[in-house]
Amino acid sequence: MAYEFILVEPQVAPYVALIRLNRPKEYNALNLQLMGEIRDALSVLDNDDAVRAIVITGNEKAFAAGADIKQMAGKSAVDMLKIDQFSTWDAIRRTKKPLIAAVSGFALGGGCELVMHCDMVVASETAQFGQPEINIGVMPGAGGTQRLTKAVGKVRAMEMVLTGRFISAEEAKDAGLINKIVPVALYLDEAIKMASAVAEKSPIAVQLAKESVLKAFDTHLQEGLYFERKNFYMLFATEDQKEGMNAFVEKRKPDFKGQ
Ligand code: CAA
Repeated sequence: MAYEFILVEPQVAPYVALIRLNRPKEYNALNLQLMGEIRDALSVLDNDDAVRAIVITGNEKAFAAGADIKQMAGKSAVDMLKIDQFSTWDAIRRTKKPLIAAVSGFALGGGCELVMHCDMVVASETAQFGQPEINIGVMPGAGGTQRLTKAVGKVRAMEMVLTGRFISAEEAKDAGLINKIVPVALYLDEAIKMASAVAEKSPIAVQLAKESVLKAFDTHLQEGLYFERKNFYMLFATEDQKEGMNAFVEKRKPDFKGQ
C-alpha cells in the first residue's frame, strides 16, 4: 500500500496494523488527501483477516494539529458542502475493527476529533488535546461538539470549544477522554500492546462488542439494550464462542479462529 501522507504497516505485531500520519512539517494537518488515505487504508485493513486491531499514530510532536487551515481558508460554504469532507469521516467511523490512538504532542481540532473516532487512546505525557476552531472563527465540524461533550461532560466541553483552551494528558485522563498516559518513549509500544490484547480475542466477538458499545452514543437505552442482546445471542452461532467457553472449562488458552 503506497500513500503520500500516511505510512501503513499491516503487521506491526501479530494481527495488529499501524497507520502513521506523515506530514510532519505541518504537524500532520489533515488535508483532504490525507483523510482520504486514512479512509482507504482503514477499508483495506478492515477487510484483511490478518488484522484484528489498528493503531493510528502521528509523531512525538503532533498526532494532528487539525484540519488543514490553508486548504480551507478561501472556501465558501457551498464549496465546503460540495467537497463533503465529512463523508470520509463517516466512512472512518464505520470501521468495524477496533482503532487505538497513540497520541503524543498536539491533538487539536480535527486531530482531537480523529482521536475521538478511535475506540481507545494511549497518550504520552506531552499530549495536548483541544478544539481551538473558535480561534479561527469557526467551530468543530467532525463531531467534536457531540463526542467531546459525551466524553468529558458539558462544562469541560464548553470550555474547550468556546475558549479553545488545550487540556493536558493528565486532564484528558481525569475527564475520561483517554485511557492511559505513559512516557513519550513508550506511547506507541503501549498502544500496540493494548491493540495486541484485543487482537487475542475472538474477532467476531470484538466486532459485535465494539458495534454495541458505539450504539450507546446514538440511541436510547431500550433500543441499545435490544441491539446488544441480539449481538450477544448471535455470538452463540460462532465457533469462537464454543472454543472460548470450552477452553475456560478445560483450563487452557483459547485458540480463536474468527469463525
Ligand atoms: N493547518 C495547516 N497548517 C498547519 C496547521 C493546520 N491545522 N497547524 C499547523 N500548521 C502548520 C503551520 O502553518 C506551520 O507551517 P509553516 O512552517 O509553513 O508556516 C507549521 O505547521 C508549524 O506550525 P507553527 O509554526 O504554528 O508551530 P507552533 O509550534 O508555533 O504552533 C500549533 C503549533 C499550536 C499546533 C499551531 O500551529 C496551531 O495553532 N495550529 C492550528 C490549530 C487549529 O486551529 N486547529 C483546528 C483546525 S480547524 C478544524 O480542525 C476543523 C474541524 O473540526 C474538522
